[in-house]
Amino acid sequence: MKVLDIAQIGEPVLRQLAQDLSKDELAKAETQTFIDDLVATMHHANGAGLAANQVFHPIRVCAIEVKDNPRYPYKPNIALTVLINPTIEPLSDERFDNYEGCLSVPNLRGVVSRHAEIRVRGLLRDGSPYDQQWRGLSAGTFQHEIDHLDGKLFIDRVTDPHTLCTWDTFKRHHEAPFIARVKALVERYGS
Ligand code: NI
Repeated sequence: MKVLDIAQIGEPVLRQLAQDLSKDELAKAETQTFIDDLVATMHHANGAGLAANQVFHPIRVCAIEVKDNPRYPYKPNIALTVLINPTIEPLSDERFDNYEGCLSVPNLRGVVSRHAEIRVRGLLRDGSPYDQQWRGLSAGTFQHEIDHLDGKLFIDRVTDPHTLCTWDTFKRHHEAPFIARVKALVERYGS
């Protein structure tokens, strides 16, 4: 397994619409090796998720895993999930404000409005169907990763630039009130 380079904001590949993957392409050894590398790169960078175009490969594949993540200590755990051609359907009008960061946007965080309840459909890496509902903070994580595949970064969705901060100023000024807010959300949804 290889740790790949992560594209930083300004790289055109981050703004490309990633292409659907056929089941035949998915089954190829080179695609499966790429998925292993994508997951290894996410782990190496302590990411909660990583999309294929973030490693210069504009296909609709993303990995998500939250396991006591030091970058996001308040996030509920999510088992390693690799999604192929994922789509999102909001399940209600409810939204919440999520403080997000991104491995492709160094040292910046900001508040993004996300759907609180979604259904995610797609394929798993073995080609079997994936269909699951996600709520609360975990729903935000899926929306962030699937946005990448549409060429969107979280900063595109920051409506109040006053919320922008570095990782250090987040810790000093914004983390405690954010955790207080999301605690209620996590308690309500269990995720
Ligand atoms: Ni990101």
